[in-house]
Formats: sequence, C-alpha cells, structure tokens
Amino acid sequence: MRDVHTALATWMAKLGMSVRVDAAGNLRGVYPARTSQAQASAVRRFYIGSHLDTVPNGGAFDGVLGTVLAIALVELLGGRRFAFAIEVVGFSEEEGVRFGAPFLGSRALAGTFDSALLDRTDEHGRSMREAIRHFGLDPGRIPDAEAPSGALGYLEFHIEQGPVLENLNLPLAVVDVISGQSRAELTFDGVAGHAGTTPMHMRKDALLAAAAWIAEVERLALATPGLVATVGKISVEPGAGNVVPGRATASIDVRHADDQLRTRSVERLARAADEIAAQRGLKMTWAPRLDQASVAMDDSMVAMLDRALERTGAPHHRMSSGAGHDAMVLAAKMPACMLFLRCEGGISHHPAENVGDGDVAAALDAGVAFLDELERAHHA
Ligand code: HGY
Ligand code: MN
Ligand code: MN
Repeated sequence: MRDVHTALATWMAKLGMSVRVDAAGNLRGVYPARTSQAQASAVRRFYIGSHLDTVPNGGAFDGVLGTVLAIALVELLGGRRFAFAIEVVGFSEEEGVRFGAPFLGSRALAGTFDSALLDRTDEHGRSMREAIRHFGLDPGRIPDAEAPSGALGYLEFHIEQGPVLENLNLPLAVVDVISGQSRAELTFDGVAGHAGTTPMHMRKDALLAAAAWIAEVERLALATPGLVATVGKISVEPGAGNVVPGRATASIDVRHADDQLRTRSVERLARAADEIAAQRGLKMTWAPRLDQASVAMDDSMVAMLDRALERTGAPHHRMSSGAGHDAMVLAAKMPACMLFLRCEGGISHHPAENVGDGDVAAALDAGVAFLDELERAHHA
C-alpha cells in the first residue's frame, strides 16, 4: 500500500494537487477550485475515488482503476478548474480481508467509523490499532478524516465485476442500487480425536458439521431467486491429517437486493447451524461481521451521469450492483453515484480481471462531461 501511495501521490502532485494520507490510511489529493484564496473556505468539494486494497490473488482493476481514472480525469482537464474543488480519494480498506471488517477508509471519510473495530485482530493476533500505528498513522486521529459537511457529492468509477455489460456489448453502466450484504463468521466446536481409534459413531467432528451446514447454504441459495451465499474461507483445528477436527471456523457472505429477504436468509442459515450442532452434540458460535443495507444512488447524480453520457454519445445501461462499494458508505454523507466499466468475461477477484482501453476512454469522456454538468448545476 505504501508503494501505491508513493506512485499515485507523485502523479497527483504533478497535477497541482495537494496530497495527504489520512489517519485511516486513505490517500487524498485535492485539486483546487477556480477561486481566489479569500473564498477558499467557502468552496464546496466533489469527491472522486475508489479503494486501493484488493482481495488475495485479486485482479489489477477492482478498486484501483477508480482512483487512477480519477487522477487521469484531472490530468485530462489540462489545468481547467471549476467553481468547486475536486478531491481524489484512494480508500484504504474496502474489502475487509485482514480484519473481517470492510469499508474502513470510506467509513472514516463518511464519519461512520466504529472505533470498536480497532480491537479486531488479524490471523496473527495483531490488532487493527497496532496495524494502523505500524503503518505510521495515529488511529486516535481517525475522526479528523471525516469529510466536511456540505460536500457536493461522490462519483466512483468501478469495473462491473459481472457479465452483464459484456453480454449487452455495452461499455458503461450507471448504477441505480448497490445490493446489501451480510457477513458473519461461525465456529463449530466438537472434540479432536485419534483418526485411527475413534469409532465414527463416537465422534464430534467439527468439520463434518461445517460440511453439512455448507451443503445447506448452497441448497438455500439455489432455492431462493436472486440470493447469493458464499463460504469463502474455512479453517480447521488442529489441522492434522490423522486427527478428527475439533474446531471448524467458516465465513459466510450473503447478498440480495431486498434487505428483508437477505436478513431472513441469514437467520435461516444461523438456525440451520444451530440445529446441526445440536444433532451432532457440538457447540456453535455465530459472530456477525457486517449487516450492510442496500443503498440507492442519488437521483440527481444519476440523472447528471445520464446527461453526461448522452452528451458523449456513449451507449449505456442502467443496472444494480451485486458487489459492495465505498459509494454505499459515502451515500450516508453525500449524494453518491457510480459508473461501471465493462470487464472481460465478467471476471473479478481473479488475476484475469481486465478492461478495454476504449471503455476507459469512454469513461474519461463521461467524467469530463459529468464535471461540466456539475459546474452548470452549481451555477444554476
Ligand atoms: O465483496 C464486495 O462486495 C466488494 O468486492 N468489496
Ligand atoms: Mn472487490
Ligand atoms: Mn471493489
């Protein structure tokens, strides 16, 4: 992340942006407005960005494309300024891989960071607080990262991470709703035992309980239209081939555009885990990690994006997002909108992630047209 900050900060500084890293690890560059110094404090700010972190063995575009596109957009302005300032943001921790808590950087900017998260520990027992300090930042200053009130809004460029645009043979899409998501971690505790001497009927095998539950996850998701449920991570203790597993810990990620259906599905999965544990004489603990509601993008921002695309002549689509994004967090603080770019094969969270130069160029043109629309609306 430090190398990414150094590279992007160099590009931003060359464009006349003042650059800093805030206490939540967000990289932030401000492109000043067209105004005299006197009015500087009254100038409103428009944010453009995305996240710089990634999933393990992920692709080269999820997140970082949105921040680099924002820098390229400022470069494309060729020194032109607006009545508002533009702040480009590279968020620090959107995926939530290390501590199981996503959207940390955007929550800090939105003023919704929960300081209790600082005690969360990673798989090496290192706390988030220590990790932030180790990076050279002061977690006590995270509240200072909050954006001032009165922000004009937020635009996030992001790959679609799905196959819709490619199948429609369209380069871009305006997002209307970002689906909600629930994440949790569950643990089955049984009894470790000797693989050779413990008869099957006397076992309290934690991994077999988890396996029975994971099959139930798939059955429920397949039976519920529009629901996706994923067990992406599982760990077994003590983790030796000749020992009956005493403990199994699994992640669960459940998504649906309808919040009630999503939360009902999560409750059913928690009940199923309880029932399996009871039948097999094991203990089960369920630790919620995230309950993020679906978020609609701002109507006026969406309309502005539509007008911008009409002006550039780029054919475009309107769609919801199954993936979560920082925009859903910033929407609590300012009007937010997203522009999707087609990605090859709909592949994401994988090294084969790819975008076409033509689509990137179309997104940049739309970005310039959007800023024109914003300037017009600002003066209206
Ligand atoms: O998992 C997601 O929704 C996104 O990649 N953060
Ligand atoms: Mn992602
Ligand atoms: Mn992303």
